[in-house]
Parts: sequence; structure tokens; C-alpha cells
Amino acid sequence: MNDTLQREDTVHPCNGDIRGSARRDMSPPGPGERSSPLPLAPALEEYKAGGASLISVLQRAQEIYGWLPQDVLRHISEATGTKFAKIMGVATFYTQFRLQPAGKYVIMLCKGTACHVNGAEGISAAVADELGITEGTTADGLFTLNEVACLGCCSLSPVMMINGETYGSLTPEKARAVLRAVRGTLPEVPSPKEQKP
Ligand code: FES
Repeated sequence: MNDTLQREDTVHPCNGDIRGSARRDMSPPGPGERSSPLPLAPALEEYKAGGASLISVLQRAQEIYGWLPQDVLRHISEATGTKFAKIMGVATFYTQFRLQPAGKYVIMLCKGTACHVNGAEGISAAVADELGITEGTTADGLFTLNEVACLGCCSLSPVMMINGETYGSLTPEKARAVLRAVRGTLPEVPSPKEQKP
């Protein structure tokens, strides 16, 4: 695993917007559909020119497709001349990569120390109750729930992110309200002021 992490890995994950808008809306290819390799061409050219790492190509692929389908990984293998086994090794080593289709909204629920101390267990229970899952993807394909060790936003703990947007200073009730708003059963996401204790 000698690939140098690219800039995306070092950007601070907290964007300061604790309201957020859950903006990612990607539809992965359906069963049996092949993923078009065309959108990935610039990243592969950059790799071939020595300006990008394999990790950054995989990150770009995941941005484009929402996950890493096998046919895309095979295309990357062929285009870069990298053994498929090595690509799979990288894709499975880093938890940021998904080898299964994700839901429309990807939730990262922090279970790190600061969040734990400030009530992450209660948030986790509320989210699980609201979604009906403790991990993975809901049956309707709307939400994918992941637990993470730290989102780097400890001052806002307890925290969760949905599609890269940060929701901080959560209570179980606020977490439920955010999920319902994202789902569209409430008119709007609670304001940042309302999220503060
Ligand atoms: S422990 Fe939760 S953001 Fe750091």
C-alpha cells in the first residue's frame, strides 16, 4: 500500500455547516448493467501521466459510480496495467471504498471517544430505530449506515455525516428529525440554531 493519499484525504471533513443538505444523489448501475468507463478516462490519463495514484483513481471511480463495480475495477486494471488482485487489495483495504451499491444517502455515524462521551449510543439507537437497520443499506435503498471511529469534528460531537454534510451537537430527537427531513417527511432540515443544545 505505497500509494500516496491525494488531497481529498487531507481535506478537513468538517465543512462547518451543521445543517447540511444531503446533496449526493447517485444512481448506481442496476443489476446486469455495465458501467460506462468514459467518465473515468481523465483520471486514468492522469494516472498514466504519473499525476495520480491508484487510490485517487478509485476515489474518482467511487465519486462517479457511487461504489466500485467489478467491471469498473477490471477496466481500471486493464487501463493501468495493474493486476486485478492488487486493485482488489487496495479497494478492500481502505474502508472508504464500497464494493456494494450504497443507498442514496450514506450516513457516517461517529462512535469515536468524544462522540461516545457525549451520547453517541443514544444517537445510534435513535438512528437504528428510525431506519430499521444497525448497519448496511435500508430495504428501500435510501440509506446506507456506517459507523466510523472519528469524523474529525469532535468539537461538534456527537456527530453524523450524510453524504459529506456534517450534522453536529445531535440529540436522539434531532437525529430523527434530520433523517425524516432527508427522507422528505418534514418540510426542512432543522436549522443550525435548533441543533445546538
Ligand atoms: S469522536 Fe466523533 S468526531 Fe471525533
